[in-house]
This record gives sequence, structure tokens and C-alpha cells, in this order.
Amino acid sequence: KTVAVISGGPSPEAEVSRIAANRLMPSLTRHYGKAVQLELDKQLPEQLLRHEVDVVFPATYGPQGEDGCLQGLLEVMGIPYIGSRPQASANALNKVTTKRILSHLGMPLAKDLVIYASDGLEKNVNDCIEQLGEQVIIKPFSQGSGIGIQFARGYDQLKACLQESFSKDHELLVEEFIVGREITAGVLELDTTQVLPVIEITTCDGAWYSYEYRYNPGMSDHIIPAPIPQEQYRRVQELTLLAHTGLGCRDISRSDFIVPESGEPILAELNNLPGMTPTSLFPDSARHAGIEFEDLVCCLVDQALK
Ligand code: DAL
Ligand code: MG
Repeated sequence: KTVAVISGGPSPEAEVSRIAANRLMPSLTRHYGKAVQLELDKQLPEQLLRHEVDVVFPATYGPQGEDGCLQGLLEVMGIPYIGSRPQASANALNKVTTKRILSHLGMPLAKDLVIYASDGLEKNVNDCIEQLGEQVIIKPFSQGSGIGIQFARGYDQLKACLQESFSKDHELLVEEFIVGREITAGVLELDTTQVLPVIEITTCDGAWYSYEYRYNPGMSDHIIPAPIPQEQYRRVQELTLLAHTGLGCRDISRSDFIVPESGEPILAELNNLPGMTPTSLFPDSARHAGIEFEDLVCCLVDQALK
């Protein structure tokens, strides 16, 4: 069977995608005798046909590779692939859609406001502070790896941050700032559906887990199992499964939470294609559950081929 790893594309996470592909390719080549790495661009359909690809492992994160575009193309071409189908991918990559769907299922979420550049800066700043408080987080709807995320405290800082964010997006998600630990957990559906061990993420200097901290080895740590109270640990696992099933995800996903000192874990987002780089969380958690990287990815491929 010919397995293709897709990477690159127009997303700002293209580099992350290539790093993941570099980890996936040796495992898949060893196991299947042959694997091809293809670029996410307009030549992709032709390349998939030329290489007679039987199954695709998307290592693509963010717009086009994770939002249902690539998945739709593969559906049309009749090529099986790992991960969620187009509808779930589109819903999951958009943080606003994710929150709106999951709030109906009782998911604990941060209070938020969607703002539009066309409403003007002054009005947006005032609305955010009035409804969300002095300290907020600004998020693009559909990016990963912390790209475009800004923290702001007070009127002047918020104004400057919104100005910057609106230079890239005309609509933004702004959330109340919640103090808590960075916690994440994955779902793996193979013969059974399992929630992987919960991870606490810490950084070398206590700073926020930004792009730089995610992909430079040594700048962040994964503490597995997360040293949080048992009740919160179980609740994170329960909510991780709720996010996965509630959005209709398939095969794999990873849900990120902020867990306050006491009380409910708050879901930040779900990643429908969790990163597969050497510093990524999902493979690390799988390893703690006794599933080595090569087994993890090859079992997923075998399942897609069934
Ligand atoms: N978006 C990155 C790849 C992750 O969720 O791991
Ligand atoms: Mg993400």
C-alpha cells in the first residue's frame, strides 16, 4: 500500500507541518516499505493519482489542511485518510463554531465576544472591557500553535492589540482571561475509543506556551499524568471525550483546557489534527499509555485502510 503524508500549504503552521512530516515519514516507510511526502497545493490531486496513493496521513495544520478543504478533496477522490471528515474539521478548526456547538452540550467555556473591524476600534475596546473585564485574550478564529494570540490588560493595551490583530483578520474572538493551569488531553479511536493520559504543560520560565515555547526543545515540559486533583483530572477526560464526540471528530483529537485552582476545567479549543512533531503533546501522551509513535501512526493508517 502507498501511504502519503501531506505537508506544507498556505497555513502559517506550514513549517510545523513539515517538522511533523519529517517524523512521520521514517516510521511509515519502515512499516509500509514506501511512503511519499506531498505538498498541499494545487498539484496535489495529480500527485495523489500519479503515486497511486492508497491512504493519506495529513500532517497539515491550520487553514486548508485542517479545516475540511483537504479532507473534502480526499472524499471526492475516494482516498481514505486519517482524522476527522470535512464537516467536523471545519467546525473544529473554527474556535467560534467549536464554542457555539459545544456550549449547547454543557461544555464549560470562557465568556467571549466576537468583534468585527467594521464596528470601529473605540467601540470594540469599550465592548470588550465592559463585557469581559480588564484582562482579555484575543484569538484569530482559525489558527493553531498559538499563532496570532494576544493577551491584553486595560484600555490602551487592548486598543493596540486589536489594531494589530485587525491588520490580519476582520473578525476576532475575544475572551475573558482565566487564571489556571494549561492542561490538554487526547482522544484516540482505534479498536476502542480511549482518552489518553492528561498532560500539564509548563514552560521553562513560566511564560505563556507560545509558538516559540511549543517547538524549541527544552522550552516547555509535558507533565504526564498532569498533577491535578483527581476530580479535575477525571473531569478533563470526560470533557475531552465530550468535545470529540460533540463535534463529530474521528480517529484523533486533542482538547486544550485552562484548569483553575478549583472548579471546572474550561475548554479553550479542540485540535482535530493534533501535532505530530517531536515536541508535540499527543504522541507523548500516547507513549505514556504504552503506544509508541510508530505503532500509533501505523495503527491509524491500517484502520483508515479497512
Ligand atoms: N496545531 C498544532 C499542530 C497542535 O495542535 O498540536
Ligand atoms: Mg490549536
